[in-house]
Amino acid sequence: MFEIKVRDGLARIGILRTKHGVINTPTILPVINPHFIPIHPNEMLQMGAEAVITNSYIIYNDEELRKKALKEGLHALLNFNKPIMTDSGSFQMYMYGIEIDAIEIVKFQRSIGSDIGTILDIFSEEESYDKIKEEVEKTIERAKESMKERGDMLLACTVQGGIYKDLRRYCAKQLAKLRSDIYPVGGVVPLMEKQRYAEIAEIIIASKKELPPSKPVHLFGAGHPIIFPLAVALGCDLFDSASYIKYAKDERLIFSDKTLRLKEMDELPCCCPVCSKFGIDDLREMDREERVVKIAYHNLWQTFAEIKKIRQAIRHGNLWEVVEQRATAHPSLMDAMEVIKNEKKWLEKWENISKKRAFMYTSRYSIHRPIVYRLQKRILERYEPFFEKSIIFGEMEKPYSRNEWMKKIEANCIIESCFGPVPLELDEIYPVAQSIFPSSIDAEAEKEARKTCNKFYKKLKIVDFSAVKKGSKDFDIRKIKSIANYQFGKGAGEALFRGKIEIVKSKTTGKIRNVICDGKHVVSMRAPDGFFSLKAEGGKRLHAFFSPPKMRVVVTDDAIPFIKEGKNVFAKFVIDACKELRPYDEALIVSKDDELIAVGQCLLNRDEMLDFERGIAVKTREVIK
Ligand code: GUN
Ligand code: ZN
Repeated sequence: MFEIKVRDGLARIGILRTKHGVINTPTILPVINPHFIPIHPNEMLQMGAEAVITNSYIIYNDEELRKKALKEGLHALLNFNKPIMTDSGSFQMYMYGIEIDAIEIVKFQRSIGSDIGTILDIFSEEESYDKIKEEVEKTIERAKESMKERGDMLLACTVQGGIYKDLRRYCAKQLAKLRSDIYPVGGVVPLMEKQRYAEIAEIIIASKKELPPSKPVHLFGAGHPIIFPLAVALGCDLFDSASYIKYAKDERLIFSDKTLRLKEMDELPCCCPVCSKFGIDDLREMDREERVVKIAYHNLWQTFAEIKKIRQAIRHGNLWEVVEQRATAHPSLMDAMEVIKNEKKWLEKWENISKKRAFMYTSRYSIHRPIVYRLQKRILERYEPFFEKSIIFGEMEKPYSRNEWMKKIEANCIIESCFGPVPLELDEIYPVAQSIFPSSIDAEAEKEARKTCNKFYKKLKIVDFSAVKKGSKDFDIRKIKSIANYQFGKGAGEALFRGKIEIVKSKTTGKIRNVICDGKHVVSMRAPDGFFSLKAEGGKRLHAFFSPPKMRVVVTDDAIPFIKEGKNVFAKFVIDACKELRPYDEALIVSKDDELIAVGQCLLNRDEMLDFERGIAVKTREVIK
């Protein structure tokens, strides 16, 4: 069972529960070969490992290991009491053409007490479309049969389909129906080896589009950290690595952005325990066997350091920055970024409303991040001009409304920012105020911004500065209405802020804190992201204004008494939700008859709320009295 704790778009920090304890994701499972264990799994725990993976076929095929595993169990065999995943031998079948019985090997994994077993999926070569289609059908059939045999073992059903996106989608869609526990994306080892990262991105995207969002996704055989940020940003939760030992045997050192041969290195640019203790000459002078083990340690330290970096980035909400930084490590990763650029619309569905950290312009791909797509789309669709006339300003210091005189012009002030057009009233929302750009940006970003500006101006009457009067006094009212429209939808500003409007500002910063209408607290403004938190009164007003399903999360009757006590809404109690809700959006929690129960903040979007069986869907903020 899997649940999400924190997320950054499709990337998530989750918890996967197994019989031998929880696995915090994203993580990597080091591959343990039962015939050769240079680093014991227990030692890997201190590096950050939470679980390991081993090959059930190797155990099955060795009489001594098989007997011991059947008698004492897999965990005793490896002397490891934490979660163990087993693979089925698919890769060995592909590499060496050995024969394995698909159901027999699943039963075997179960009988030796594997926490997570894997079906015997068919690893397709680069073959014809028809051949791979046939193999995909066989994989699906095996998954169906294997599900009957899983017992209390979690089962991983691997998506195959070669490089054909439609076959990947088809395979993922069929496997999704089985509701197995984990969905690996398989068949990528040859692509990893040839650094065909764009195809790997396409394959992950095609699979993710059809897989249940509540299930962890494992990228099989991708053990080099160079791909981790990108794969996690596209929704992969688990990895496995034999690379740490394979590369070590080749005397190659893994780094997050490359691999270097020991013999071509003059320095050890690493501060892992191995590289801190030994100089490069010490490594060279060691016995070969000892050297291989030392390099394997280094490789694992580097691999886990990258996982930790990614988890931190998810918490800070700046994983795309890490992905873009990593894209400079290899031109093929840039090709993968081109693939991702075309998936903005899909990525936006999973994108947070705001992040903990400022938007940092990192590369020519920054302008294509889903948060920028959201900003442009909402400004185009949801902005309602207050004046007949509009005037345009160039990029300037932020926040734009520091320029008091701009607030007094009787025209809509539009700033041509690096993101595209930004109405002055929206200058404090994420990521407008919370963004850092260099003094000159790339041509593609400029073109993108210009394109959005031109689209936006079609709706406005642009005039010259000399054609507008000064003396407008109601900037704060315009501001709160514009933010409400942007955040909740057109008309929300008028619906929320009626009657006698009182705007309470912070004494220290002068920023808007609360909006009170006819003596009732309607919303609070959050200082870090410039968006509103709904109070019960605000919820009531939006509930009356928007018809269902807009902004709603519909919950089961039996959940209502708990929510009325202020408890959070768990995903399993959600019956339906508005398609437009995004992670960290404000939501109206309602009964089946659309009675407003509470207001809260979503952690999940609609697809996720309907799919997850565990975890919080909406954090209850205030109950309707
Ligand atoms: N190990 C590396 N790639 C694969 C794959 O596609 N399927 C399985 N079962 N194991 C793998
Ligand atoms: Zn090192």
